[in-house]
Amino acid sequence: MDRVLVTGGAGFIGSHLVDQLLGLGYGVDVVDDLSTGRLSNLAQARSGSHGQFSFHQMDVRSPALAELAKRRRPSVIFHLAARSDVARSMEDPFEDLTVNLGGTLRVLEAALTSGGAKIVFAASAAIYGDVAAEIPIQEASPLVPSSPYGASKRAAIDYLDVYRRSRDLEYTALVFANVYGPRQRGAAESGVISIFTERCLTGRPSTIFGDGKQTRDFVYVADVVDALIRAMDNGGGLVVNVGTGRETTVASLYELIARAAGSTLRPRMAAARPGDIVRSALDASRAATQLGWRPFTDLEAGVSSLVDWYRANPEEYFVRRPGRQAEASPEE
Ligand SMILES: NC(=O)c1ccc[n+]([C@@H]2O[C@H](COP(=O)([O-])OP(=O)(O)OC[C@H]3O[C@@H](n4cnc5c(N)ncnc54)[C@H](O)[C@@H]3O)[C@@H](O)[C@H]2O)c1
Repeated sequence: MDRVLVTGGAGFIGSHLVDQLLGLGYGVDVVDDLSTGRLSNLAQARSGSHGQFSFHQMDVRSPALAELAKRRRPSVIFHLAARSDVARSMEDPFEDLTVNLGGTLRVLEAALTSGGAKIVFAASAAIYGDVAAEIPIQEASPLVPSSPYGASKRAAIDYLDVYRRSRDLEYTALVFANVYGPRQRGAAESGVISIFTERCLTGRPSTIFGDGKQTRDFVYVADVVDALIRAMDNGGGLVVNVGTGRETTVASLYELIARAAGSTLRPRMAAARPGDIVRSALDASRAATQLGWRPFTDLEAGVSSLVDWYRANPEEYFVRRPGRQAEASPEE
């Protein structure tokens, strides 16, 4: 059985990836410290995997990661474990640096001890910063991150590239737009769609930071998992955008969700947050040519299925991350 390792596999995107990998017949080891992830996200993986699945509660910065990779010899390491909260990265850039960059170095070490696993890395549109003049953003655009989070993801790609040239380790860095879907924690800074959906469904007002005209490119989690799996065998040595190319303003996103959830509540407006970017949409032409990927879920259909999921899983409302407040920032 071909084995793979997923860091951050108890998180939102990681757990969907794990379910899909198990369905395809891979043996899967998940490494996660459960700082923002949850074991309940892995309920399906744990119940239906017949010994193909193992969970390791471990910090990705631990040297034990390399020992695990040496024992399990994965052919691919999906590296998703990260601090992905932009506002928090502004408050505590040091923690962001050690998890996001230090963790990536540990993953590189693990790939070496495994005998040369390919690394599929979760990067972010935050690496491009505010490049309003060039929408949709192509991979050749200048990398001008406006947050420590974006800077840490950019630096991680530089390290992946150094190890490719100096140690012969293969990688593909997927640059995700704003990902949404079931299991995203609405209380996180990242999940503006989940936050609006939860609040509309429970009759509580949402807050929009900034004037609401800022745009984002929202891509559905199943489409992102498809790109991750295609990158196992394709896109070596490349940075590849994974987005829809469609810009949606946060104000119109709110209207769409309110309609789908049957809410007439108006949002509150509040001052923009430092580090937030004004416009974002990713050109995914390279993903089409290199991975054979394209997004297949449009925003209306994705929001509608998310509303259905919340209605079927009301226990998911307002699942909080420790110490965070449940307000909506448009940033990932
Ligand atoms: N959600 C998005 O819109 C989006 C957009 C761009 C990029 N990304 C990237 O995709 C990846 C997954 O994001 P997500 O939205 O699923 O977030 P998430 O917070 O749900 O998942 C991250 C996972 O990593 C784990 N983790 C964090 N620090 C760790 C550590 N030190 N050791 C081990 N595990 C640790 C968390 O417990 C969590 O399970 C991240 O790298 C993120 O930066 C996400």
